[in-house]
Order: sequence, then C-alpha cells, then structure tokens
Amino acid sequence: MKLYIKTFGCQMNMYDSARIRDTLAILGYTETDSPEEADIILLNTCHIREKASEKLFSEIGRLVKFKKEHTLMIVAGCVVQADGEELLKRAHAVDIAVGPQSYHKLPELITKYNRKKGRIAVTDFPAESKFDYLPPIQAIGASAFLAVQEGCDHFCSYCVVPYTRGCEYSRSATEIMDEARQLVKTGAKEIMLLGQNVNGWHGEGARDLGDIIRMIADIDGLERIRYTTSYPSEMTENIITAHRDVPKLMPYIHLPIQSGSNAVLKAMNRQYDRDGYLRISERFRAVRPDIAISSDFIVGFPGETDKDFEDTLDLVQRVGYASSFSFKFSARPGTPASIMKNQIREEVKTERLIRLQDLLLSQQKQFNVNTVGKELDILLIENGKEKGQISGYTPYLQNTHIAADESLLGQIVRVKIESATATSLGGRLVKA
Ligand code: 5AD
Ligand code: SF4
Repeated sequence: MKLYIKTFGCQMNMYDSARIRDTLAILGYTETDSPEEADIILLNTCHIREKASEKLFSEIGRLVKFKKEHTLMIVAGCVVQADGEELLKRAHAVDIAVGPQSYHKLPELITKYNRKKGRIAVTDFPAESKFDYLPPIQAIGASAFLAVQEGCDHFCSYCVVPYTRGCEYSRSATEIMDEARQLVKTGAKEIMLLGQNVNGWHGEGARDLGDIIRMIADIDGLERIRYTTSYPSEMTENIITAHRDVPKLMPYIHLPIQSGSNAVLKAMNRQYDRDGYLRISERFRAVRPDIAISSDFIVGFPGETDKDFEDTLDLVQRVGYASSFSFKFSARPGTPASIMKNQIREEVKTERLIRLQDLLLSQQKQFNVNTVGKELDILLIENGKEKGQISGYTPYLQNTHIAADESLLGQIVRVKIESATATSLGGRLVKA
C-alpha cells in the first residue's frame, strides 16, 4: 500500500510528516511521490498566513482527480486544528482531518474508517502525549529534526500558533536524549532541535536548552547541533555560552525580531524592545564573533507608520543579518491584530516589503561574499541541480554546491569557497 504525503509550512510540520510516515509504515504503507498510485493522500497543512492556508484548497483540487474509490484523503496539521469541521464542509473529498496533537491516532482512525458512517475531524488536545505512542524515530538523511518543545504561550497579537499548537509543552531530557541517540544510530550527523519557542524549553531533567545542547553534544557520531526558533527575551546565558563551549553547536542563531519599532513591538505583544534585542545579539557576538544571525520580519502591521518602518530598516543596518524571512502582515481569524483599527493598505505593505527585502538580500549577499576564499566544512546532503554536482551546508547554513561524486553524500568535507551569490556558494573539495 502506498502513501503520498505533501507537507506545507515550517520545520515542525516536516518533523510531524516524518513521524506520520513512520507510524503508517507499521500499517504497511510505503511512501510514493506519485499521487496516482497512492492509497492514502495526506496533506500536512500550515495556517500561519492566509496564503499558506489557501494553498491547501488548491492542492486538494489538484489531487482529487487521483482519488479512487478506496483512496483515503487525509488532512493533518494546523489548518485542521484551526477549523477541522469547516474544512470537512468546504472540501468534500477529505475523509479524515487530524490536528497536530492527534496524529498518533491515525492507525486507529484509518483502520476503523467508514465514509458512510461519517467523515472525521479530530482536533482535541489529548491528555496523553503523542510522543509516547509513536514508533521509534528514523533518520532519513544526514540531517534530522528533533522536536523538543511544542506550542507557544506568548500570544503575539498577530499569531495563530498558540491556538493551533496549543500551550507550551517540553519533552523530558531523557526522551530527547533517547531520540537523539536513535537518530544518530540511524544515520544522522546533524540534529536540528525544534520548538515554536525552543529556547523556552523547560522540561524535566535539565535546567534549560543550553543543558540539552551540552548533553546531546556528548553523543558519538553526532557532528552538528542546531536549534530553532528562538524568542529573544527568553534567551539564557547558558544557551549563549554554549556557542562558545560546544564545538558541535553551529555558529548560527535564528532570532526573530519582527519589527525594529518599539511601538509596533508593543502592539504585537512582543516582550522586548529594540535595545533589548540589540543587547542579546551583541552577547551572541561577544562569545562567537563569527555567528550568523537571522530573523523574521513582518511589515505592514496595523498602525505601522513610515517612521516605524524606518526604525526596522535602521535595526537591520545595526544588526547585519546573514539571512532572513520577511512577510506582509496577514490578518488571521481569531487574533487580536486582525480586528485592530489602522490596517495598512496592501500597496503600502508591498512597497515596504520590497524595500526591506532589498536591504536584507544585500546583507545576505555580503555575508556570503565574505566567505569567498575561506575553507569551510560542508555537510553534504543532496544532489545539486546539475549532474556531477552535490550540495550541502556550511556551519553558517549557507547552501553550497561542489563538483563531487554522490558517494560523498552524508559526509562532512572541507571545501574552499570560490564564488557567492545572495542565495548560495560555490566551492571545490580541498584534498585531505
Ligand atoms: N502575518 C504575517 N506574518 C506572520 N508570521 C506569523 N504570523 C503572521 C501573520 N499573521 C510570521 C512571523 C513568524 C513567522 C514564522 O511567520 O514573522 O516569526
Ligand atoms: Fe507566534 Fe509569537 Fe508564539 Fe512565535 S512567539 S509562535 S510569533 S505567538
């Protein structure tokens, strides 16, 4: 039996899809990349912005033609959590809808499913943790995700995550260590620790994420550790100094600021101001001067004035980012910001986004150009676009292409960087 999975959205969704794949493997499903031959078509969805949510419906429309009599169409993820019943009403082809906290129930839901008795939406936050019911994790390549924390208690005024992923939950240090060992045993050289508020980790068996990083660094065979995504004012000294003390911890920090204006940050209900953020970024640079800093930005938040936007540009100049993600504000149903007065006109949002992205892209290019001439370690993970080319990532998370045989995939190699664009590097293998 065949399973076709399509994943939208963030890395947490990619992690969930991997766990769903392993769970359904027990029922005898193997993955296929052609929906025509699938017995289950599963869409793992994202609700963060309107565009992300709408993609689901066009994708259902595209995939429905591959649905045969016996094919099950399953929708998982945050769109379901936001409004699973509405989804079933709007998309008749969908058989089962399951939220992000309930996908461990899929084997039972699938086995017992009978369309005539009614289609199903499961959106409760069960008392049990899904992690206790999932089969042991398997790495599918040299770089693996490990969810250590889920949910968010921050309630930024624009964001649906606290509603779709629920309140903060941290897995215990023992559970994380077991899963990390299992990932390394099955081939992972790099582990990305995931959480919606990963540096707010507060589980049993360690003081904070800094301790978790130090613990998993002791696993033999593990070469690289990363974590994402962090909330600026919850950063601890122990995490920052891990960047000095733990060679396996990569010199890269994703630290979303969202806006450089104190008034906008306040309206967003972010619990720091621009000076506080600058101090935190300086603390990272003090322990690890070469660290790459990245961020998320929202432009056109309700009430954002030209001056507020200029403050964001100024903040970007001050920090100097290695890479970034920036978005137009999207009014999400049920969030306080969606009903704020002073919504910004679309043209203004577009114009601000273009200006911000111009600046961010030029910084990103400069960061990349600065690595030309250096020798860096690259973890090779995929085939490149051209034949005979493979690609991977520098410690600073720059995508790098080299001419080499694909037998090197999964290895860390020394590469002399020879060229740079805003989005990638080119280099050649340095002979050992
Ligand atoms: N509109 C635009 N961007 C948003 N993000 C979250 N919610 C919204 C929204 N309503 C962005 C933030 C966050 C990233 C994951 O998505 O920048 O950090
Ligand atoms: Fe959303 Fe804010 Fe929580 Fe991030 S910190 S997930 S933006 S509510």
